[in-house]
Amino acid sequence: MVKAAVLGASGGIGQPLSLLFKASPLVDELALYDVVNTPGVAADLSHISSVAKISGYLPKDGGLERALTGCDVVVIPAGIPRKPGMTRDDLFKINASIVRDLVTGIAQFCPKAFILIISNPVNSTVPIAAEVLKNAGVFDPKRLFGVTTLDVVRAETFTQEFSGLNNPSDITIPVVGGHSGETIVPLFSKATPALQIPADRYEALVKRVQFGGDEVVQAKDGAGSATLSMAYAGFRFAESIIKAVKGQTGIVEPTFVYLPGVPGGDEIAKATGVDFFSTLVALNATGAEKAINILDGITPQEEKLLKACTEGLKGNITKGVEFISSPPK
Ligand code: 2OP
Repeated sequence: MVKAAVLGASGGIGQPLSLLFKASPLVDELALYDVVNTPGVAADLSHISSVAKISGYLPKDGGLERALTGCDVVVIPAGIPRKPGMTRDDLFKINASIVRDLVTGIAQFCPKAFILIISNPVNSTVPIAAEVLKNAGVFDPKRLFGVTTLDVVRAETFTQEFSGLNNPSDITIPVVGGHSGETIVPLFSKATPALQIPADRYEALVKRVQFGGDEVVQAKDGAGSATLSMAYAGFRFAESIIKAVKGQTGIVEPTFVYLPGVPGGDEIAKATGVDFFSTLVALNATGAEKAINILDGITPQEEKLLKACTEGLKGNITKGVEFISSPPK
């Protein structure tokens, strides 16, 4: 039996993500939580003839507690999206407290659940979640993940012209670091099968993966950021977690984790100088079984990208940690 919850289920990412969960044969029970509209979204999805029993909750009548009780997997896309000209960091002011409050609920009502954070800025909201869980005495770093799968999905898509693959996702490209601009580091040199990228196209390709989200923000022209591709990516990662929970072996996904708490993570923390970092993570029924260091042997260009990444990440992480340790008045 797998119970999943989507927190922020009525939003732009939350609705298509909930649809993917409802359609999945891997989910037995699905709880939708948001501050508005979840009864309607749940009623709509409930007509789909799939296995998952679905229910919608609002904050009233202990809705968060009822949504979370018994949950195995909780995905959080809640919060506001970007408008043109905004960075993910500009969302911090509003989304930081939303994530803090939802994770406080998880600590209380389903402390053993796997927590998947989509709400931006992921580089800061995951450290916020970690601090909240620590303070509640229930932090298991093997169960807390920042979803960076959209960066991987973009890397697969944008390299199709070089891979020549009919299905762009038949390539595996590790994307490491964080989930924002220069903190996103695609390691094309570690692609399988190997990729040949012409030297004069490399820089633009890296930039496109790093700033792919901006393309969508601009095209939506004030109506938000990536929602459908983010829901696809979020579900792709959630599906891997659920399969690992159900006992499937050999699943490896890039994801943003607290390195000192995951076996193998210390070595990567030492190499990068940061405690939170997206790297390849082997998953099993307990969550993050092992953080895999793929930084050895990267190219000098990738070294340079990594340096810019970790410099940016440090500030993002500290901002998240301090939001909990010294809360704004
Ligand atoms: C993106 O990368 C929404 O952060 C998301 O577009």
